[in-house]
Amino acid sequence: MINQRSLRTSILLLLTSFVAGTLAATYRVTDYGAKGDGITNDTEAFTNAWRAVCLNSTAASILHIPGGKVYLLGLTKFRGPCNHYVRVQVDGNLKRVDEVWSDDDNNWLLFINVNGITVAGAGEIDGQGASWWACKEAKARRKLARYLSIYQTFPKKFCINYLKNILTLRICSLADVRISRCKCKSINARFFKNSAMMHVAVGMSVGVRISNLKITAPAESPNTDGIHVERSRHVIISDCQISTGKSSDLVTLGIEKSYATAEGIHVSDSTIVRTDNGVRIKTWQGATGFARDISFRNISLTEVRNPIIIDQFYCPRGGCKNETSAVQVSNVKFIGVKGTSANDMAIRLECSQSSGCHDVVMEDVDIRNAVPGEQAQAFCFNAHGKKAKVVKPDVPCLSY
Ligand SMILES: *[C@@H]1O[C@H](CO)[C@@H](O)[C@H](O)[C@H]1NC(C)=O
Ligand SMILES: *[C@@H]1O[C@H](CO)[C@@H](O)[C@H](O)[C@H]1NC(C)=O
Ligand SMILES: *[C@@H]1O[C@H](CO)[C@@H](O)[C@H](O)[C@H]1NC(C)=O
Ligand SMILES: *[C@@H]1O[C@H](CO)[C@@H](O)[C@H](O)[C@H]1NC(C)=O
Repeated sequence: MINQRSLRTSILLLLTSFVAGTLAATYRVTDYGAKGDGITNDTEAFTNAWRAVCLNSTAASILHIPGGKVYLLGLTKFRGPCNHYVRVQVDGNLKRVDEVWSDDDNNWLLFINVNGITVAGAGEIDGQGASWWACKEAKARRKLARYLSIYQTFPKKFCINYLKNILTLRICSLADVRISRCKCKSINARFFKNSAMMHVAVGMSVGVRISNLKITAPAESPNTDGIHVERSRHVIISDCQISTGKSSDLVTLGIEKSYATAEGIHVSDSTIVRTDNGVRIKTWQGATGFARDISFRNISLTEVRNPIIIDQFYCPRGGCKNETSAVQVSNVKFIGVKGTSANDMAIRLECSQSSGCHDVVMEDVDIRNAVPGEQAQAFCFNAHGKKAKVVKPDVPCLSY
């Protein structure tokens, strides 16, 4: 029987072999001055190598980051459009230079406007988030101290700008949201760790495949998301392992009061360990657009605080008013999502009052309370759909 998984695999192999046959030249970052000694700032060398492969190649080519080395990089933009397809082969390790960036620059490695790219390899990509986490905690402590009217001395200036994302694919510019020209981007076999906030962010892109990604951050790190997807179509995420300090979002949709769409987001065969969120769809009230055709299959969860969550009342800073418009959420499947919840409330489907969520399907979902003997629970607000086979805890708003 050909199931979806094997079908996808063969399609990928086809794509890969087609592309492999046409890769003409290799551009090594070391030939453009990168030292990879873990001390030298290699940003400029990478930028020069990228410019060469992107703008100077006469056919599909490779940007090679040789192994056995550690490359120190500051903010690096891999800007397109390029002449041809580029495969970025990351065999060496990348480490972020500790520096302060301006407000708009919160993506460390940003691929923008690149039509047709693969990022692959076994190198480790280390966001060095620790300094940002310390700042964040100091800020929170200062707030608390103020609140308690305790006079304590804190440094005046905390780090103002947080590195937000380690690796970002923003394939199309804001002006080109129709994104019909963008195709075939993939991130494969990567090992990411220690982002300040998010590890991999995909935005305004079409046709992205992310697989074999391993993301780690220490347990005490605040707010480090795993994979964050927004305003994109046809994104396939599979065979990933995420184990970060707190949040781990797989899908995030909708920006405050704007029009946002996401469609064809499929996540499978992945494990999530001790994070705040397992699989989450969050949208802001007052936004419009849709999130549809989304699936989560064969996901294993260990001690996750919110294993399954649709949150259409997302309001991170508080004080949001109830709004009538909302992103329309429909056709969302959770199939074979199993494991343990660190909270009693294992499943929360909180959909907008105005439109609600439709065609939510749960099948073979089994989430137990991580505390033996305690029950796990589910909560629904304006969610509609079906359940099949085992669904534990029972989700009352879905019907058999
Ligand atoms: C690293 O190099 C880039 C490009 O030359 C530069 O913009 C950045 O400020 C450098 N960072 C440090 C910490 O030297
Ligand atoms: C681009 O190619 C030309 C011709 O091969 C070469 O002379 C030039 O140095 C290349 N530029 C870069 C940035 O690699
Ligand atoms: C489910 O996902 C795990 C990885 O988390 C994988 O090892 C396993 O083969 C998958 N099972 C099926 C039936 O695809
Ligand atoms: C918004 O609506 C929800 C659902 O009806 C309700 O629980 C919540 O209290 C409302 N919030 C405000 C601020 O009116």
